[in-house]
Amino acid sequence: MRIDILTLFPESFKPFQESIISRAQEKGALSINVSNIRDFSKDKHKKCDDTPFGGGAGMVMSAQPVFDAVKSVSSPNSKVIYPSPGGKVFNASIAKRLAQENHLIFICGHYEGIDQRLIDIFNAEEISIGDYVLTGGEIPTMVIVDSLSRFVPGVLSQDSLVEESFSNGLLEYPQYTRPQVFEGLSVPEVLLSGNHKEIAEFRFKESLKKTKLVRPDLIKGDKFEN
Ligand code: ADE
Repeated sequence: MRIDILTLFPESFKPFQESIISRAQEKGALSINVSNIRDFSKDKHKKCDDTPFGGGAGMVMSAQPVFDAVKSVSSPNSKVIYPSPGGKVFNASIAKRLAQENHLIFICGHYEGIDQRLIDIFNAEEISIGDYVLTGGEIPTMVIVDSLSRFVPGVLSQDSLVEESFSNGLLEYPQYTRPQVFEGLSVPEVLLSGNHKEIAEFRFKESLKKTKLVRPDLIKGDKFEN
């Protein structure tokens, strides 16, 4: 999968040169390219924002530099994403759906957002990462790209995806590793038993207990409720 990120702050994406995302790029499962929107500005001072028509506080990102930046990377099968607090709220099923695309283009907004006509022209999907407002679209883009990358074939081992939070609608069970006793706390006995059926039952019960406590909304009216 190819991902293009259009931003006024390309340096923000340095973390993608580390760890799993960087290995996925080396393996060829993912290609992430970051472009600076300012390079596309036709203004003599490379300005990329202007005051809003109709008045109001703050600045709006101008259409021209963003339009040209999108055009410079777009292909017939690219899909444009605009992270914004005004979008639908991101979750694992949106991540899985986006992971099926061939080419995603992310527009990182700043100030009061981007000119609406960009959203209309490119039929951009607006996605929010939660009900709060961040100072720009870089962190939301990183959240969405990191999360969907895990579902792109070849990025993770498929086993890590089967038993994770949300894959069965529940939060994940607790994990333990050596030593068996740490600060006086022992690993639950059943995990040392080698009995796979009992271990699976224990883990399911723990998942259910945690979900009921922390995220009861996930199981409301669900098959797990009793
Ligand atoms: N930009 C600013 N706040 C945001 C949010 N909550 N989600 C996505 N993009 C944003």
